[in-house]
This record gives sequence, C-alpha cells and structure tokens, in this order.
Amino acid sequence: MSDSNSDSSGQPSFFTKHEFAIRRLHSLTGIVPLGLYMCVHLTTNASLLNGPETFQRAVFLIHSPGHLLPLIEWGGIFAPLIFHAGLGIWIAKTGRINSSQYRFTSNKRYSWQRWTGFIALVYLFLHVMHLHGGVHFEGWINAIDKVGLGQFRPYNAGSSLVDAMHRGYGVVWPVIYLVGVLACVYHFINGLWTAGITWGLWISPNAQLRATKVCVALGAVLTVISLSAWAAAVFPSAEDAAKMRAVEDRMYEEGVEAGTVPEMEHKRDLRNRDAIDEADEEENTQASKIQFEPAA
Ligand code: HEM
Ligand code: HEM
Repeated sequence: MSDSNSDSSGQPSFFTKHEFAIRRLHSLTGIVPLGLYMCVHLTTNASLLNGPETFQRAVFLIHSPGHLLPLIEWGGIFAPLIFHAGLGIWIAKTGRINSSQYRFTSNKRYSWQRWTGFIALVYLFLHVMHLHGGVHFEGWINAIDKVGLGQFRPYNAGSSLVDAMHRGYGVVWPVIYLVGVLACVYHFINGLWTAGITWGLWISPNAQLRATKVCVALGAVLTVISLSAWAAAVFPSAEDAAKMRAVEDRMYEEGVEAGTVPEMEHKRDLRNRDAIDEADEEENTQASKIQFEPAA
C-alpha cells in the first residue's frame, strides 16, 4: 500500500527523497520574498494615512519599471506564492508533520498556522482579483471592472483604493480585508518562529523563549501597521476620494510634464469622469449663482 512516504511501487516518493531541501525552500519562500514583500506592502499602504501625495509617490516608484513590472510581479511574488501555498496545502492535507518542529510547537499554534494558511489562500485570491486583477491587459481589466474586480488604478492610487472598498457589497470587502490581513500577519509571525526551528536557529528552551518575545514584539508592530493600512483604505468617504483624485491628477500632470512619470492613461482612473465633471460644473454654477445673487 502507498502512503505519503512512498509511491505505488513502494519506492520513496519524490517528497520523501527531497524532503530536506523542499522544506527549506518552503520555509525560505515564506520569509523571502513573501514575508518581506508583505511588510513593505502593508507599510506602503499605511502611508495613505499621511495623505494621498505620500501614497501616490510610493506607487509611482513601484510602477516605475514599466513593462518589466509583470515580470517582477510574477517572478518575485506570484510564483513563490503559488509554490509556497501549493506545498503548504499538500503538507496540511497529507498531515505530514514537520516532526522536528512538532516537538516544540504547541498543538494550538500549529493548527492555527495551517488554518491561517487556508484563510490567506482565499483572501489573497479575492484580494488580487479585487484590486490588481491578476494580469495588466487593458481588455481584461475593463471586462472584470464590470463585476467590481480589477479596481485599482495606480495613477489614482489612493482614490481608486478607497472607491474599491466602497463599491458594491456594503461592508463585505472591509470585513474580508480585516480577517484576511490579520490571518496573514499571524501566519507570517508564527511562521517566523517555526522557521527558526526548521533552520536550527533556536533549539534550547531559553533560546525559544527569547525568540517568542521577539516574535510577539514584531507581531504587535506588524498588527498596528496592518490595521493602519486597513483603516486608511476603509475609513475615507466617497467625497474624500474625490479630493484625493484631484491631488493625484495634479501629480500625474506635473510628473508627465517634468518627464518623471510616463504618460500612461490606462493607469489612471477615468471611470465616470464625465459624471464627476458634470457634478463639479453643476456645483460651480450653483456656487457662482449664490455669489452673484443681488442683495435684497
Ligand atoms: C497563500 C496561501 C498560503 C498557504 C496555503 C500557506 C500554508 C502554509 C502551511 C500549511 C505552513 C506550515 C508548514 C508545515 O506544517 O511545515 C506554512 C508555513 C509558513 N508560511 Fe505559509 N502559506 C500561505 C501564505 C503565506 C504567506 C503570504 C506568507 C508570508 C507573508 C507565509 C509565510 C510562511 C512561513 C514563514 C512559514 C513557516 C515555515 C517554517 O516553519 O519553516 N505563508 N504556510
Ligand atoms: C489592508 C490591507 C491591504 C491593502 C489596502 C492592500 C492594497 C493593495 C493594492 C492597492 C494592490 C494593487 C497594487 C498594484 O496593482 O500596484 C495590492 C496588490 C497585492 N497585494 Fe495587497 N493590500 C493589503 C494586504 C495585503 C496582504 C496582507 C498581502 C499578503 C502578502 C497582500 C498581497 C498582495 C499581492 C500579492 C498583490 C498583487 C501584486 C502587486 O500588485 O504588488 N496584500 N494590494
């Protein structure tokens, strides 16, 4: 009979033969690039609390590789994520326990590590589809925009992010983001602790106690950053988003004129511009009527 240690011919399975290397690759991808990316990503998003200029400047920088960006995203983020998630699910489903780890980690924390992995998988799929859209083809983004996906527009970063949270289904997106982001933070921080055992960094009880304290402190900092990123995207109103859009438009126009931002209209949020312009015009006309109303 075959099990997860052997194939149908009774030979050791590929995983069993290469378990040492595969476990380390799984662990490494969880830390670099995924964990590192998540820390930078959440901090960038939290910078929206400082105003739309700060966030827009960061997004201009992130998008500066231009046509190389999809290559960087797929090679540096999506491929490691698919590898890590696929292997993580396989490990969790086959019940393959990292025995060296299991001796040290509490049962509860270990099963939370797996549950938060599943939550991260669902959340990240929804999140990437909701904002990024998966691929940058204009036709694809326009098609999924109709069902409320692919909502982020990098050259109107803050306003399109805020609008995306408001568009559609009431508090559904904010709740999904809150649960997803906290699950990712737990998964990464508890994962850092177990990774220290995978790599033989903290084995003695004293070393593990010190590692626990460091991880708890890191976890507290990352929780504050992630809640700030969440609040910055969820709390501003539609009117705040309109004000952000005006600032972003000015930064885009000045950037194009100075040659620091490439002219890429498809990265702007041009949806409903006519309706917005008409509303602005109407408001201005009303305001000038009031201003020039002769005194009684
Ligand atoms: C996308 C869905 C994900 C799934 C399904 C998943 C699944 C898992 C599972 C099941 C484990 C435990 C492995 C074991 O029992 O030995 C694990 C460990 C880990 N994961 Fe994830 N994960 C995901 C995303 C992430 C992300 C986004 C990060 C980083 C932000 C991350 C970082 C880690 C780390 C650092 C470990 C510890 C590795 C070790 O103990 O050596 N994971 N993951
Ligand atoms: C409140 C929390 C979060 C907010 C506001 C947020 C915001 C964003 C935005 C605006 C984008 C689109 C970026 C672009 O297309 O240039 C994006 C993409 C992405 N986010 Fe998040 N994010 C959050 C949490 C997370 C977490 C916890 C992860 C876990 C690692 C994550 C992983 C990703 C990935 C993989 C992409 C696609 C690749 C990329 O565009 O960089 N996000 N996020």
